[in-house]
Amino acid sequence: MAEKPHQDADTLDDPGEVARRDPNGMFTLLRRWPEQWKEAAALAREARLPGGAPPGGFRHVVISGMGGSAIGGDLLRSHLADSLAVPLVVNRSYACPGFVGPDTLFVAVSYSGNTEETLASLADALHRGAEVVGVTSGGALGEECRRAGKTVLIIPRGLPPRQALGHLFLPALGLLAGLGLAPDPSAAIEETGKRMREWVRAYGPEVPARENEAKRLAASLRGRVPVVYGVQDRTDAVALRWRGQFHENSKNWASSNVLPELDHNEINAWASLSELTRRCVTLIFLEDEEDGGRMVRRREITRELIAPHVSACLSVRSSGRCRLARLFSLIVLGDFASCYLAVLNRVDPLPVPVIEDLKKALAAPSPTE
Ligand code: PA5
Repeated sequence: MAEKPHQDADTLDDPGEVARRDPNGMFTLLRRWPEQWKEAAALAREARLPGGAPPGGFRHVVISGMGGSAIGGDLLRSHLADSLAVPLVVNRSYACPGFVGPDTLFVAVSYSGNTEETLASLADALHRGAEVVGVTSGGALGEECRRAGKTVLIIPRGLPPRQALGHLFLPALGLLAGLGLAPDPSAAIEETGKRMREWVRAYGPEVPARENEAKRLAASLRGRVPVVYGVQDRTDAVALRWRGQFHENSKNWASSNVLPELDHNEINAWASLSELTRRCVTLIFLEDEEDGGRMVRRREITRELIAPHVSACLSVRSSGRCRLARLFSLIVLGDFASCYLAVLNRVDPLPVPVIEDLKKALAAPSPTE
């Protein structure tokens, strides 16, 4: 924490430094958000279940995946919270929820196609007779689905899973809409795509920190633990996304929670390490125009109660007309901010070596096998 925010801003305004810290081209991938969105929108239009729904229709939807492949499921649940015709559950487990059966649409999502929890839940879903759809760039998941005669939505290869969010999210949205489970998303997808070009321009490395919200956010977070608070069924999935992006891109400790639930537990804990948290925690409230009057009042009171225990409280507001655009306005901002924080933390934002090592260790035969 030795450097000051303006020194950090200078670092982020130095193109050579940003390039040195990003040898694998994460900022190039971030700039490609609009192109990815367009490609994913085309996949969404084509995403269909050849046999359609069972005679009585689907009674539930399960999106099963881990990490960067699961967050699209959370976004679906949040985005469709008050319009989805049936319950949607995001499953991050080796097994399926007990209700899964022939009237369940089970979407197994794994970018690599080789994540063991997702493959195990897929086998469980097939065993239970669920209608399965795979979303993957390849790997065993695609093969398993094909072997079982199930639909696979193939998405482009070569991206880190978390930077393939457009591909992991939009085809599943298109699938649900095609089955009549969700409203037609075409207009919202179009608006979001248009806005994406503006966001990517506004947060790019060539825009100086004084005009660049993503750089300023990163500069205010270096040496801190961001604690991100969203709102249930509005920005809850975005809070989770930001947390994950700080973990994976910035290699930075972070936490997240959701209003109003956190007011019934976490709020009670802030005083316990106040001396420490006052030095190293920055609280970030994600705000959206649909949060509602009671939630705004609740957030004000929550902020007043927590402020004495943190180094700073920030508010970040979504922008855009439709809900999808507003969600992604925050997502793109968080993506850029987490990569600028990686630059300040002097780490490469793209690789996730600890995750890779863990997967390798799990794949090796255990000493007892
Ligand atoms: O972002 C990442 O790299 C991880 O969170 C992965 O998404 C996670 O480990 C699951 O892998 P996959 O997305 O290939 O199923």
